[in-house]
Amino acid sequence: MSDTFDRLWAGLAPLGRDRTTGGYRRLSWTPVDAELRAWFAGEADARGMTVETDRNGNLWAWLGEPGPDAVVTGSHLDSVPNGGGFDGPLGVVSALAAVDELNRRGLRPRRPLAIVVFVEEEGARFGVPRLGSRLLTGAITADRARGLTDSDGVTWARAMADAGLDPDRMGADPDRLSRIGVFVELHIEQGRSLARHGAPVGVAATVWPHGRWRLDFSGQADHAGTTRIADRNDPMLPFAETVAAVRRAAVEHDAVATIGRVWLSPNTSNSIPSRVRAWLDARAPQEAALRAVVAGVDTAARLAAAQHGVSLSNFQESFFPRVDFPRDLCHRLAALVGGEDTPAPLLSTGAGHDAAILASAVPATMLFVRNPTGISHAPEERADPADCHAGVTALTEVLADLTDAKS
Ligand code: GLV
Ligand code: MN
Ligand code: MN
Repeated sequence: MSDTFDRLWAGLAPLGRDRTTGGYRRLSWTPVDAELRAWFAGEADARGMTVETDRNGNLWAWLGEPGPDAVVTGSHLDSVPNGGGFDGPLGVVSALAAVDELNRRGLRPRRPLAIVVFVEEEGARFGVPRLGSRLLTGAITADRARGLTDSDGVTWARAMADAGLDPDRMGADPDRLSRIGVFVELHIEQGRSLARHGAPVGVAATVWPHGRWRLDFSGQADHAGTTRIADRNDPMLPFAETVAAVRRAAVEHDAVATIGRVWLSPNTSNSIPSRVRAWLDARAPQEAALRAVVAGVDTAARLAAAQHGVSLSNFQESFFPRVDFPRDLCHRLAALVGGEDTPAPLLSTGAGHDAAILASAVPATMLFVRNPTGISHAPEERADPADCHAGVTALTEVLADLTDAKS
């Protein structure tokens, strides 16, 4: 089994890797994305799986006939800019390796089995994360998705059409959803809980509520050398005060909140900027705390904007409620992975996942693989090979059990 995993991993590793930083840039509907999709289709085909692209661009590989009551696993292949190689791909590679392991053990699933690769999970190119799974479940409308733009103004509809898909067919796909009996996504842990537990694999029980807000500060561009301080409407100042307010609000409400992306115009050293656009990412275990963080940031930003004669608009780009995966399913998986007497740890996470989107429609949960440093969304993200292999073994046990596989 470890050979299969290692071979698959080595085949995928060069795609989208930056030779200087070692990080990955795998953005949806780009040439590297086409290579990733072709890689997956080729590997699935080599296993006798039937590959199809759904109306939203997600890839599905079926072992046997598609649905009904299928057991589905998988994850995503896109990354954040300069991200790690494990966030997403670990689940896809482990799924392919688990299919091989079922075969090697001579186990034949008695329920249909599929591997899915969701498109635009990170929202790194078009701004809205979990886009493929949200379109599938109808959590976002096709009209809104079609109009999303990347930083060059290319729409999702255009990018999808350029990749050979028909954007007019996009949207909720109840027929496809109705084929899914259960969904299990394997993912690298994006924290150190498993390292603390001393366990290679755990089960996700909860995904925190989270969202993204776009803050637009608009002032007046002017000359950096000739405009008196008293005459300035500089949006950089309320923006800077807002960054500090984000940290204060997160600490106050036991939450996490980040400004990790900023755009400004005209972005030159000898002009006062006219506009600063910043994205707030906020997450908390409970929705009330999350709402309090966002309200606190909004109040502080408005106050600072008014003090500097700058206008502010605050737009919620995405919001994901808290998801508690079904307890019975989580406990079943924990016992399968760790044994009845020493079940695998149940974890909660502040990271978003396609499994949490699917959970609104079908029973779903996740397996997490230990990440010794906890680092994610960075080139240093990693899991030890032995833990990756343990993840494949765990996923194989889970798939064998859920599909009632027999020799
Ligand atoms: C995805 O990794 C997210 O949680 O933003
Ligand atoms: Mn991610
Ligand atoms: Mn991910």
